[in-house]
Amino acid sequence: MDLFEYQARDMFEAHGVPVLAGAVAETVEEARAAAETIGALSGGVVVVKAQVKVGGRGKAGGVKVAKSVDEAADAASQILGMDIKGHTVHKVMIAAGAQIAEEYYFSILLDRANRSYLAMASKEGGVEIEVLAVERPEALARIPVDPIVGIDAAKAKEIVDAANFDEDVKGQIAEAMQKLWTVYRDEDATLVEVNPLVKTTDGRIVALDGKVTLDDNAGFRHPGHEALEDKASADPLEAAAKAKDLNYVRLDGAVGIIGNGAGLVMSTLDVVAYAGEEFGTEGNHPSPANFLDIGGGASAQVMIDGLHIILNDQNVKSVLVNVFGGITACDHVANGIVGALKVLGDEATKPLVVRLDGNKVEEGRRILAEFGHPLVTVEETMDGAARKAAELASAANKN
Ligand SMILES: Nc1ncnc2c1ncn2[C@@H]1O[C@H](COP(=O)(O)OP(=O)(O)O)[C@@H](O)[C@H]1O
Ligand SMILES: [Mg+2]
Repeated sequence: MDLFEYQARDMFEAHGVPVLAGAVAETVEEARAAAETIGALSGGVVVVKAQVKVGGRGKAGGVKVAKSVDEAADAASQILGMDIKGHTVHKVMIAAGAQIAEEYYFSILLDRANRSYLAMASKEGGVEIEVLAVERPEALARIPVDPIVGIDAAKAKEIVDAANFDEDVKGQIAEAMQKLWTVYRDEDATLVEVNPLVKTTDGRIVALDGKVTLDDNAGFRHPGHEALEDKASADPLEAAAKAKDLNYVRLDGAVGIIGNGAGLVMSTLDVVAYAGEEFGTEGNHPSPANFLDIGGGASAQVMIDGLHIILNDQNVKSVLVNVFGGITACDHVANGIVGALKVLGDEATKPLVVRLDGNKVEEGRRILAEFGHPLVTVEETMDGAARKAAELASAANKN
């Protein structure tokens, strides 16, 4: 889960990272009130910042300096409702205005390839780091961080030296880095990025922007993180799937997919996308509507939950169930499908293509044949099933 900047700011503050005063507002009135309080602390100057989970807000006009409460209210009315790279702004943060002398960059991230963490730091912050990394890679220090040791005083010194920060701020930056490390470790983050980390004209180091990605798999250790979820903009089907503990990701195609095992589901998506090219018009081929891995132990209940989610997706025109019987045998899965269709009753209105293979495949196919549901087609191969599902979706689209 990615956090909004204001949530990252609050998290930084809780861990002792130096930040500026800031408050979030959803209306112009709230923004005005916040600008009064915060402006009083910062000589009247505040910055109104769009809260969207995408970078480059400054360039897009989503970060505005305001020298009075009226100007702040004005800026908020312009920014609220704005579209930034496809994200509508529903909230702004009113931050104290900083007198910036220099902008730096610092981040800690997961380095999967090296099975380690990586700290990146640069004296040339504020700009898009992807651009800096390509155009002036020598200006971006990359220091591996041992997950067990983390960023202690010695590691922080190594990083500030590698990035060649000015002597007068090295100590403060090193301290901020150690605090940011505690955010990364204690909150189970996979990314903590500060761009820019600034030096103010009076020589203080402050995190001016913050991006934090939390590891959802560690969510059980952090009951407080649930409150950080942006429920308003979550996809309703994804939210419903999450509530049922289903591994579901919504995509934008017309073929609903259910499979067991992430690898099998991934290859099913590929096969369906490929088969879809044969059907539909140019640029409008049937393609996968979702990823859904029901895992091992495909009980009737899991099938019901999964089908219920997929059939409620307006874009879905056909459904492909692709299961390889292993520990969970095919007869079990077939009974799950039959049970699900019985429970769903009239709700099951879209054609279902089922491909079963593996343990007890004959029994599984027999159960489905005996059930004889008019919407169910059984296919023997994965390619055949993908083709059939794509064809049915394309036919439904033409109706
Ligand atoms: N509180 C602030 N005071 C003064 N300038 C700011 C403040 N917040 C942001 N800025 C300026 O706006 C730029 C962009 O803001 P930032 O928060 O980094 O948004 P983004 O990265 O999405 O463009 C910063 O590089 C900085 O120059
Ligand atoms: Mg930034």
